[in-house]
Amino acid sequence: MASRNPESASPFPPGYDRQARLAHADEVYRAIRSRRTFKGGLSSEPIPDEYVERILEAARWAPSGANTQPWEVIVVKERELIQQIGLFFTDGFTKMKTAQPDFPVDNKKYMCHVPLMLVVIGDKRFINCYPQVGGWDGCVEIFYSSLAAFVQNIHLMACALGLGSTWGTCFSFHEINLKKLLGIPDIYRTFAVIPIGWPRAKRKDSWRKPVASFVHAERYDPARLKSTAEFREWIGPVRYSRLRSDGRVHADPAPAIEYGSLVAWDVNLDSRYGDSFPAPSRANGGAA
Ligand SMILES: Cc1cc2nc3c(=O)[nH]c(=O)nc-3n(C[C@H](O)[C@H](O)[C@H](O)COP(=O)(O)O)c2cc1C
Repeated sequence: MASRNPESASPFPPGYDRQARLAHADEVYRAIRSRRTFKGGLSSEPIPDEYVERILEAARWAPSGANTQPWEVIVVKERELIQQIGLFFTDGFTKMKTAQPDFPVDNKKYMCHVPLMLVVIGDKRFINCYPQVGGWDGCVEIFYSSLAAFVQNIHLMACALGLGSTWGTCFSFHEINLKKLLGIPDIYRTFAVIPIGWPRAKRKDSWRKPVASFVHAERYDPARLKSTAEFREWIGPVRYSRLRSDGRVHADPAPAIEYGSLVAWDVNLDSRYGDSFPAPSRANGGAA
């Protein structure tokens, strides 16, 4: 192997085409940066099959734990089915508003009229295929993270094609209805419903916290650990003031949130999955 001159100021390997790489990186960044979640504003004109194929082709190149590719997707174009799924989500909106009135959720009515929905599902038996080293939480995480990577690729390619899409979370009440309507066997997790359509107008830009606010150099900087009060400030007033749009801080008062519900995240996954997926005794062959 040719050794590099340690005196050389260049951090780039020989033959590295910096200009070409930067141009490529710009393109990738543009696709990532221009993606927006559409919570309405999508027209119902059909989407060419060729576009759907491109989206699915991009999706399948997502990374997955041990390359298990735990995803499957139901491509829904039938108007009646789309309308019905949209109704599940508008019903979900009512449930959410009742349970947590301040949560900023849109009414989802637009979902009834999009020309395409992708329903991403994953066979939960894949959870069994990841390394069983000290509990199920890692395995569950690999499963869902793999599905999430698949979904993100869908959004990116849809955006690159000029389409608008939304990441629709499936809560259990959505899942029960979707399984019935689309005949999805029980062993699957109905992970996400992605309505896709043609944007009627450009979406307002979104907001992200600056890089410096989430990066630690070399080691975790304990001075940056948020106190509970700071955390509440962040998840509440700070985030809410920017949530809907453009990164500017808006004058409207932040809604109150019930923080107690956050504790529910700290669930014991062993007990949750233990019954249906007894820990296997075999050696696990794959690497995550
Ligand atoms: C895991 C995940 C779940 C989400 N679930 C929903 C959802 O159920 N409904 C929805 O309208 N948007 C959902 N979103 C979209 C977010 O609201 C959106 O990404 C966020 O507000 C930032 O907006 P942007 O994507 O336009 O930048 C979800 C996003 C992620 C990553």
